[in-house]
Amino acid sequence: MSPTGPKIPYGGDYNPEQWPQEVWDDDHRLFTRAGIDTLTVGVFTWAVTQPAEDVHDFTVLDRVMDRAGAEGRRVCLATGTAALPPWLAKKYPEVNRTDFEGRRHRYGQRHNFCPSSPAYLRLATAMAGRLAQRYGRHPALLAWHVNNEYGGACYCDLCAEAFRGWLRERHGALDALNQAWWSTFWSHRYTDWEQIEPPSALTEHWRGPDHTAFQGITLDYQRFMTDALLGCFTAEKEAIRAHDPATPVTTNLMGLYRPLDYHRWAPHLDFASWDNYPSLDAPLTRQALAHDLMRGLKDGAPFWLMEQTPSTTACRDVNPLRRPGELRLATWQAIAHGADAALYFQLRASRGACEKYHGAVIGHAGRDDTRVFREVAVIGEELSRLGGVTLHARTPARTALLFDWDSWWALEISDGPSRLVRYADVVHAYYRAAREAGADVDVIPVTADLTPYDVVLAPVLHLIKDDLPERLTELVRRGGTVLATFLTARSDRHDRAFLTDVPGPLAPLLGIRVDEWDARPQDVVQPVHLGESTYAARLVFEIVQPTGAEPVGTYGADFYAGTPAVTRHSVGAGEAWYVATALDQPGVDHVVRRVLARHDLIGPYAGQTAVETATRITPDGTGLLFLLHHATTTARLTAHAAATDLLTGERVDEGGCLTLGPLDVAVLRLHQIGRPRASGTPDLRRK
Ligand code: GLA
Ligand code: ZN
Repeated sequence: MSPTGPKIPYGGDYNPEQWPQEVWDDDHRLFTRAGIDTLTVGVFTWAVTQPAEDVHDFTVLDRVMDRAGAEGRRVCLATGTAALPPWLAKKYPEVNRTDFEGRRHRYGQRHNFCPSSPAYLRLATAMAGRLAQRYGRHPALLAWHVNNEYGGACYCDLCAEAFRGWLRERHGALDALNQAWWSTFWSHRYTDWEQIEPPSALTEHWRGPDHTAFQGITLDYQRFMTDALLGCFTAEKEAIRAHDPATPVTTNLMGLYRPLDYHRWAPHLDFASWDNYPSLDAPLTRQALAHDLMRGLKDGAPFWLMEQTPSTTACRDVNPLRRPGELRLATWQAIAHGADAALYFQLRASRGACEKYHGAVIGHAGRDDTRVFREVAVIGEELSRLGGVTLHARTPARTALLFDWDSWWALEISDGPSRLVRYADVVHAYYRAAREAGADVDVIPVTADLTPYDVVLAPVLHLIKDDLPERLTELVRRGGTVLATFLTARSDRHDRAFLTDVPGPLAPLLGIRVDEWDARPQDVVQPVHLGESTYAARLVFEIVQPTGAEPVGTYGADFYAGTPAVTRHSVGAGEAWYVATALDQPGVDHVVRRVLARHDLIGPYAGQTAVETATRITPDGTGLLFLLHHATTTARLTAHAAATDLLTGERVDEGGCLTLGPLDVAVLRLHQIGRPRASGTPDLRRK
């Protein structure tokens, strides 16, 4: 279930309750000028709508909603439960969080509620219910936005008690829990549930959240906290549903956000949405990865870009400005990867407090002749011209990347082999290689159906759960390719080592055995010979003994010189690859391109790293090819199919010239879909 409308919703966070009503007139005049049709309202209004426990006041919100409706705009209405009003924190101190160091907080900031607090749950759900009762049938209502950027963790006594209950449900008996946590180690065998403490700086941790004596306990707490915060979301959603059975409900996620396992959230969201605040010097594939991860939450269904800054953030130590053209490029990149909405934080700049320097469509002077306003208006105009063509379109990816929060957590909270290996960096390196080779990539949970894919990448998939080994083997047998890396398949769901050769249940598929691994500081480089070239490897060097696989690349130094660093195992009609070390990006590119080439998945513009391509297929089967030029030069490409650029109306024939100016974008509607594929997805690859 996702919101419907004639075009991509365009607009963003709007806080008119902070302003006198004459400012609202200016706002709406400027919104019209910028093509803004959608307002996210109510994200921080709790203190306005409920100034005391028994006092409710919706006069301002009524006016905001009615005014939006009268102006022909749609509202994404927030429940506003992410920032507590002061009276609530004072009256019920239990709602304030206890931090990792064990300090009970007092009132302040936002995202400051304990997810296990009965008072918080009662009052937050009551507010969500009241809002749904009041606005559920409002003509301006487009979607519900529950809370805001759920995150963080609490370690209070209420959470400790809830954790014990969660553990009882998951583990059943203390014996099972003791086994799962391998608790006899360091004399931790529990004989009563009451003995269990949340893992914090006061208990299992030292040097911070990543250093724990018991990974099993810390993993379970991360799962529990994910579920506890999710419980707050689902409670509000139920309260909304009691009055409004139909309007889609979401909450704004944060892309690659480690603390919450969004795959546990996905089934409860009607549609996914997220806030994109990339560091501006990150490679373009970094935010593309986040978009694809968000699209993967709902089985490939489009998501909303709920927030991005039109110009600059405020929260970083140094907040660079988006250069001319960069906002447009970032917006089209989101749409290319599956966004069905393009929204900003924020429409009008805050006058005071910590976000007064945060970029906004309308700055403090209220002008419409600023560069940023003009760029926003150009995008608004383009989106109006585009209409609904891209809505509900899907990405026909044949390459999947397995993304797993459990593996992320386990890898980064483990002592040994190296704390320098960062999950998101390794995942990004493989994702980037596939994307720069021109492949569309679905970033999916390990439980997803693998049958649509030819290639499955499983970088640093540390934990292996359930029947994944069987499903990967099946994919390879029928002709697909699986690629795994160092530190993949090291432990089970409780982060206990497998009592077999490394890489555990994937060892037979990969045709290798690993007995030893060497970890070295960042500056130690190990040459790896691959084909005609030599690449640099760092951090971890696993020593691989083939048990059926053939070496594809070898180490060039140390006592394991000449032994395999990259292997390939033929199984059935397919292949299973293993990369035993952290290759540099060119090395990863080399391996991934060989894998993709086997399935003819290298795109037509793979040689042009500044040109990003992404494909979407509309519900009526039309192919859309997005070309995103991430450089400030001019790119000249040869069209690989006849197409019309939906932004300029220009036609290009197959073999014709496509010119992309600095940071330019083309949205090509392909005239011929090409030879149909057995899977039913059109073949958009170069012939
Ligand atoms: C987050 C929040 C917004 C705002 C922006 C600023 O995304 O959801 O309320 O604070 O950050 O970048
Ligand atoms: Zn708590």
